[in-house]
Amino acid sequence: MSPALDLSVNVAGIHLKNPIIAASGTFGYGVEFEDVVELSKLGGFVVKGLSVEPMIGNPPPRLWETAAGMLNAIGLQNIGAQAFLEEKLPHLRQLKNIVVMANVFGYAREDYERTIEILNEGEGIAAYELNVSCPNTAHGGIQFGSDPRSLDEVVTTVKRVARRPLIVKLSPNVTSIAQMAYVAQESGADALSLVNTFVAMAIDPETRKPRIANVTAGLSGPAIKPIAVRMVYDAAHAVKIPVIGMGGISTAEDVIEFMLAGATAVQIGTASYWDPCATEKIVDGVEQWCKERHLTRIADLIGGMQLE
Ligand SMILES: Cc1cc2nc3c(=O)[nH]c(=O)nc-3n(C[C@H](O)[C@H](O)[C@H](O)COP(=O)(O)O)c2cc1C
Repeated sequence: MSPALDLSVNVAGIHLKNPIIAASGTFGYGVEFEDVVELSKLGGFVVKGLSVEPMIGNPPPRLWETAAGMLNAIGLQNIGAQAFLEEKLPHLRQLKNIVVMANVFGYAREDYERTIEILNEGEGIAAYELNVSCPNTAHGGIQFGSDPRSLDEVVTTVKRVARRPLIVKLSPNVTSIAQMAYVAQESGADALSLVNTFVAMAIDPETRKPRIANVTAGLSGPAIKPIAVRMVYDAAHAVKIPVIGMGGISTAEDVIEFMLAGATAVQIGTASYWDPCATEKIVDGVEQWCKERHLTRIADLIGGMQLE
């Protein structure tokens, strides 16, 4: 009999049964996926970005499929933090053995602070993921995530009020991801997650109009994976806190690649758009991958890239 396989990892004190987390904005509030994904099989999931007030998001068209990727400019549509506590969380709390993380964004530091204060009152949230990196609204956070001083200010402010571990989600639209990772750590982040989407755009040659009403949008999916792997590698080498890697993951091998680059856990986003069961299938795939190689602890892979 082969030895038991331990797929668990620890991110900022949160025990995850495996390193696979569904990414914010691609998994609704979790409840929408209840009938297609066995939620308790996932390491966890991050709900759609929440703000103080509900938001309707950007006008359509908001999605466009590219070669090996997707453009989106949803514009952070959400029901608001209070409605999340009242309408979604009670149901999620009835589900056993799941890890729910709340993604948070704001227009100003005070918005992040207020949203966190509202969420502090809810039971059953494992961590906060601070979105300082959305490229799709005029003030959707990216200004915090692309300037070291603003990043420091928002993380320091939120850290003071957050009653749960704080994951800071970094923007890839920066010159030095290592610098931003370090700043987030020094300002109090308990973990980092990266990458959010890359600012991009597409134009219809016939109509000469932008494919996305917002004109610019965020690029995600397999097209960004190699850049995301490099950024996770750079960030993981710049900090001591755990890094959650994402960007184009769609297979078990992709998960392993991010872990070898230094990720403690990973998130799956766009893959759920073409296969709503992707997250669960990837958990199965990772387990099989490890078993075939007689691994006993997936955590041993973290940062394990061999140069020679
Ligand atoms: C339609 C859509 C909506 C998203 N909404 C959010 C969001 O609300 N908050 C956030 O932090 N990231 C959001 N993201 C970014 C994803 O969580 C993820 O960082 C990004 O898509 C890269 O991963 P992927 O290539 O696996 O999709 C969104 C992505 C997509 C495609």
